[in-house]
Amino acid sequence: MSGPISLQDFEVSAAAVLPASLNDWIAGGAEDELAVAGNRAAFARRVIRGRVLVDVSQRDQGITLLGLKLAHPILVAPSALHRVAHPDGEVATARGAAASGALYAVSTAASVRLEDVAAAAPGAPRWFQLYHAGTRPRSEALIRRAVAAGYSAIVLTVDVPILGRRERDLRNRFVLPDGVRMANVDESDAAADERDSARSWANPIADTALRWDDLDWIRAAAGGLPLVVKGVVRADDAERAVAAGCAGIWVSNHGGRQQDGAIATLDALPEIAEAVGDRSAIILDGGVRRGTDVLKALALGAHAVALGRPIFWGLAVGGALGVEQVIGTLRRELDTAMALAGCSRIADIDRSLVR
Ligand code: FNR
Repeated sequence: MSGPISLQDFEVSAAAVLPASLNDWIAGGAEDELAVAGNRAAFARRVIRGRVLVDVSQRDQGITLLGLKLAHPILVAPSALHRVAHPDGEVATARGAAASGALYAVSTAASVRLEDVAAAAPGAPRWFQLYHAGTRPRSEALIRRAVAAGYSAIVLTVDVPILGRRERDLRNRFVLPDGVRMANVDESDAAADERDSARSWANPIADTALRWDDLDWIRAAAGGLPLVVKGVVRADDAERAVAAGCAGIWVSNHGGRQQDGAIATLDALPEIAEAVGDRSAIILDGGVRRGTDVLKALALGAHAVALGRPIFWGLAVGGALGVEQVIGTLRRELDTAMALAGCSRIADIDRSLVR
């Protein structure tokens, strides 16, 4: 039998090797999982109107994103606790991402220290995703460590004032596997709520009190590094983020894990792209599984897309190599989609290509 040839194949292979409760933690979303399905459905509703008789014999996926030259527009979204899927955890992710030329946004909730993730792939493009939970000194210390370790932007995730109700985890009474923990945050931050084990693992990441005003000190702590705000699904919030000095807007509904019934990210994208124009970089995630999805997102105004769950599938199936293969698969599909749409460069992917 051949190996996985699509991201869906990786999903099936990962489910076969992961314990059911871990697979559920990765796959699951909030409540009825309408937002999880909605992200995919929004891609399915859009169609591509490709141009013909264009010379596409030379094709290039290169982009520049917040000053970084990247080989392609597919990013690794920040996600927690990669050691649930592979013993090497984020070290494997960093190596796989680097081998495939992907920018990796490393989560505060990583299961490997952010310095060790950086050291695993020296010179590779990387951003640090901040969960502000608890005290300002804690977050400032995390940002300082990220700056010192060579991360080139701070991504502030803003869609977790509290954790969404993920019913699969509640049913499974999800707890972290032995030996897997958040390596960047102090244990004392994780004052476990023993009545509700599905929530306790996430105590160090949720903060009900974070407000727009906080962007000022977070940006100051980041020094000159660009700030990206992740979890925006409305044009007015995107405007506000740009006004607050953010260099990037990350359109995301957390893969449908937070607000169920949230707008699909692809549906939120056009109004956001129109509102911010070229004042900010726009990244989109949520249900990106095909090269044609990447093309659709770029056509509707994203500069780059990011993968959440597929990275876990790659890790579970083959560690660093699996991550490299997942990203490589999507790149090959994007190459096909571009050729068939009459695009030889990313800049050729314009709004008229999608309806
Ligand atoms: C996430 N996501 C996430 N986001 C974030 O900013 N910090 C984090 O630590 C995590 N952790 C996390 C764990 C798991 C298991 C998943 C699946 C997701 C959200 C992630 O960055 C991204 O927004 C979505 O995963 C994108 O949707 P897809 O690609 O999973 O459909």
